[in-house]
Amino acid sequence: MTKLIHLTDPHLMPPGKTLYGLDPEARLTAAISHIAAHHSDADCLVLTGDLTHWGDAAAYTILKRELARLPFPAYPLIGNHDERPAFLAAFPGASTDSNGFVQYRVETEAGRFLMLDTVQEGTHAGWYDADRQSWLKAELDAAAAEDQPVYLFAHHPPFEIHIRMMDMIRLVQWREVAALLAETRADIRHYFFGHVHRPISGCWRGIPFSTLYGTNHQVALDLGPADDAPMTHEAPSYNIALLSDDLTVIHTCPFTYDGPLIDHRKDQNTDHAKREAGRAQVAAARD
Ligand SMILES: [Fe+2]
Repeated sequence: MTKLIHLTDPHLMPPGKTLYGLDPEARLTAAISHIAAHHSDADCLVLTGDLTHWGDAAAYTILKRELARLPFPAYPLIGNHDERPAFLAAFPGASTDSNGFVQYRVETEAGRFLMLDTVQEGTHAGWYDADRQSWLKAELDAAAAEDQPVYLFAHHPPFEIHIRMMDMIRLVQWREVAALLAETRADIRHYFFGHVHRPISGCWRGIPFSTLYGTNHQVALDLGPADDAPMTHEAPSYNIALLSDDLTVIHTCPFTYDGPLIDHRKDQNTDHAKREAGRAQVAAARD
């Protein structure tokens, strides 16, 4: 089994700068501390973009410092708020394809992770041009030939999520990507993405997908016709994906939760005799 931590959209600013009334550095630090304390046995972490808010070198320095605190590899993808040259300057060892896009493969026990670069300078919309599509097609062909399951990671979703503001900046070349994914013989297990700052899961043309809250701010849940949506202070989270050959399980951890942990066995409203009888029934049926 492969244990993956999925974190997204930290929108880091230079030290001391807040964003929408929150401190992105403090939030990322809290997330990394929580992950290191509770999931040090994970195989890797993937950050699906918008690593920084404006692509500042000082913000990438924070990211580098925080990821170095993890006892396992971290794979940061870029998003529409990032600057590819600044990212590559901060992470000179980052893998790129032959055209300089930040896309590469990672081999795991569960299968092959394909990291996609959906960023286009000058627009917040997702972009996946012919060169990038050629890379993806070659990777999918290789995975199919080698009988390796594929997990896709990208900042932008190709599909609509029915929040209009975000749908306007989804992947522009979604039709071409849909055709490519429909034609491949590769076994695509899941599409992990960021960008939308909300917890969403579903299935697109047979491919299960999931995303989650950002570590800093969120996008309001507004399924109406307005072109714009406000940002919110809903609690952040990270996801834990447990990937095995016959099962994908994804848990969400609201890492800033500091409320009580209640022992239900001591709760006065529980009918303990009935509960024990039920347990005995299940135990007998399992034997
Ligand atoms: Fe974002």
